[in-house]
Amino acid sequence: MEYQNADIARIAQELRQKLADVPDKRTVLRDPALKSLYEQIKTLPSEERGAFGKAVNRLKEELEDEIASLQASSTSLPPIDITAPWDDNTPANKRPGFLPTTQGSLHPLTQEIEKICDIYQRMGFVVEESREIDDDYHMFASLNFPEGHPARDDYDTFMTDEGLVAPAHTSTMQNRVMQKYAKNLDNNAPIAVVIPGRVFRNEDVDATHEHTFYQVEGVYVDKGITVGNLVAVLKAYMSEFFGEDLHVKIQPFYFPFTEPSFEFAIERPEILRKNNSEEQKWLELGGCGMIHPNVLKEAGLDPTVYTGFAWGFGVERMVMMKNGIEDIRHFQSGNLKFLRQF
Ligand code: DAH
Repeated sequence: MEYQNADIARIAQELRQKLADVPDKRTVLRDPALKSLYEQIKTLPSEERGAFGKAVNRLKEELEDEIASLQASSTSLPPIDITAPWDDNTPANKRPGFLPTTQGSLHPLTQEIEKICDIYQRMGFVVEESREIDDDYHMFASLNFPEGHPARDDYDTFMTDEGLVAPAHTSTMQNRVMQKYAKNLDNNAPIAVVIPGRVFRNEDVDATHEHTFYQVEGVYVDKGITVGNLVAVLKAYMSEFFGEDLHVKIQPFYFPFTEPSFEFAIERPEILRKNNSEEQKWLELGGCGMIHPNVLKEAGLDPTVYTGFAWGFGVERMVMMKNGIEDIRHFQSGNLKFLRQF
């Protein structure tokens, strides 16, 4: 195709050459020379614009047709550029490299999970990691959820096509840690484990609910353990974490894996309340209770000899209360204004 205008004719020539040379033909359509022709349109006297614009469009169509026919006839796909942009440090493309590590910091949740684990370790607990993909047995059956039991529906879990589960709570680890540390009991030492982990729920997201969040699970088993021990341990932990004695409240609840079961709430500082209602006064942190005999049995422990308690608390909510954060969504927002405060 011939172009009357000298600029267009020259650039057409250049781009045809590029089309022959470059492996990824479509990059030619983004070539700065083509772009410069489009930019030139608005600088022209109005009587020349129409013809010039049409010619530039024709050139673009010519290139598109050529690319389509080249691609139709080629059997190999254009290569994909897998280098990160900052790998190209030729002077023309000089971009800032990685930020020096002195400028980064740990995410507030990571910092707090480290502090939480540190408190529990000083109280004699060991820390085990949770996992982010699990199976139905650890999510339900090992925790005394019978097959088809409606309590399974309380956990709106995500499942893969293969039937694996994105855990909706860290309680999935209870059976494993009880088996792993059962030998403590033979040596007259308790099973005392905490398990931080990320959990996933099909939640409607709002200021206090996220679909992905963190929990810290705790399991304590020995001879003669009672609800009194449960309350004492959790209160001691809370006052260490918050640096003050907070009002806490436990009230009866239902979990298949504990009997009795409780909901554990702490008093919201006034500054974080929307109004003076009783509901706004308390923030539920999670559940706790005496480990159900069936759960002990399933882990190979004799419930006529041993008793224990367990709990699972949401980390974000504890951190929100400690730092006066009003919206849980800040944590995953990537908002640097928020993150830099920690
Ligand atoms: N897993 C429960 C939840 O996320 C919380 C919980 C309740 C954990 C009672 C426990 C427990 O260990 O004993 O809803």
